[in-house]
Amino acid sequence: MRVALGVTGGVAAYKAAELVRRLQQEGLEVQVIMTRSAQQFIAPLTFAALTGQKVITEMFAADSGAPANVESAIEHIAVAQRIDALVIAPATANTLARLARGIADDFLTTLYLATTAPVIVAPAMNVNMWEHAATQENLRLLRERGARVVSPDEGYLACGMVGAGRLAGTEAIVQAVLEALGVSHDLERETVLVTAGPTCEDIDPVRYITNRSSGKMGYALAEAARRRGARVILVSGPTALEPPSGVELVSVRTTEQMHRAVLDRAAEATIVAMAAAVADYRPTVQHSKKLKRGSGPASLELEPTPDILAELARQKSDRILVGFAAETNDVAANARKKLASKGADLIVANDVTQKGAGFDVETNIVSIFTRDGREISLPQLPKFDVANRVFDEVLQLRQLSRSDSTVPRQR
Ligand code: CTP
Repeated sequence: MRVALGVTGGVAAYKAAELVRRLQQEGLEVQVIMTRSAQQFIAPLTFAALTGQKVITEMFAADSGAPANVESAIEHIAVAQRIDALVIAPATANTLARLARGIADDFLTTLYLATTAPVIVAPAMNVNMWEHAATQENLRLLRERGARVVSPDEGYLACGMVGAGRLAGTEAIVQAVLEALGVSHDLERETVLVTAGPTCEDIDPVRYITNRSSGKMGYALAEAARRRGARVILVSGPTALEPPSGVELVSVRTTEQMHRAVLDRAAEATIVAMAAAVADYRPTVQHSKKLKRGSGPASLELEPTPDILAELARQKSDRILVGFAAETNDVAANARKKLASKGADLIVANDVTQKGAGFDVETNIVSIFTRDGREISLPQLPKFDVANRVFDEVLQLRQLSRSDSTVPRQR
């Protein structure tokens, strides 16, 4: 999701840099827009470095010395259509007044009129300016029109006075933005352990058995859980992916290492989602020296690896256990069988032969089978959206088991 952050000219403008970081940690893409006076307090370069994007400082490219063109003249419309929320922090008394009266005399105020995305303003100013009837009237108008106002804190102000006017804390602003975006922190009390990627089983120092898993589904689960406020432990086989920020990564290679890591950390977890494509077999013998060609046809003797999911299910308490099933045929029948045989609460099944599903693609087409007999077939969705739907079902199961245990016992 994309957020435009309008920074206006107040001493608190430097705090917007920290806000950018926190919004990014929530997985939001941030486009910064600065008013002219904001640039007196902090340089656009700071925000450009943090966001990796050009900071919008002028209404028209020509104002910044670059040649004007149609693209720059209507950029506010393009930005207005692209964003999911407009945040203005800090918002000065002057900017609040311009917003309230619909004066569109710079990029930020024009964007405010042009966007239909939710608007969040976090004012910061001198206490007398804050308490002035004009400012309060402007805030009332903005609230009436649907803007969320994150009220300033009380305390020492840069002007030397004490009172209301300090920019609200970064967390309060971030929460208001997440609320406006409809992103909830409904996994806040959970610790989610996710397994991801393939495992590798060595034959000799240069050869190994593995599978086509890219880890994308597992990393999407880790990211979705993190964004919903969970503490996340990601046990991952080798992948080419960057771990999502804020996630604790435990890197493993073999099934035995994944087995140990999962059992070690499972006690901390309230939800376990096992998206890893675990090798079912490993060579009985791992040769310490490279096998040489030439001694006739070779055959490899294999032995089964431990079934991590099933083992966890045997020892589980009220932890919710999510298994994945990668199938090539009879998806529903195989998934229901796995739900029972593995003792999982939920199986996410997909037919890996379908286009847009399975290995190394950005999307997945899955059906979710729950232990209370429901089957939810989802359309082709980005893996991140699939991950969110999985956690929606996990929370449903959690509610079901809570309401089961609150049914009064018969005497
Ligand atoms: N799994 C596991 N340990 C294993 C094999 C699989 O924990 N040794 C987990 C996977 O992470 C997945 C689920 O079990 O969540 C099902 O994996 P899958 O490979 O589809 O099933 P298998 O049990 O291996 O059955 P089959 O390969 O015969 O379909």
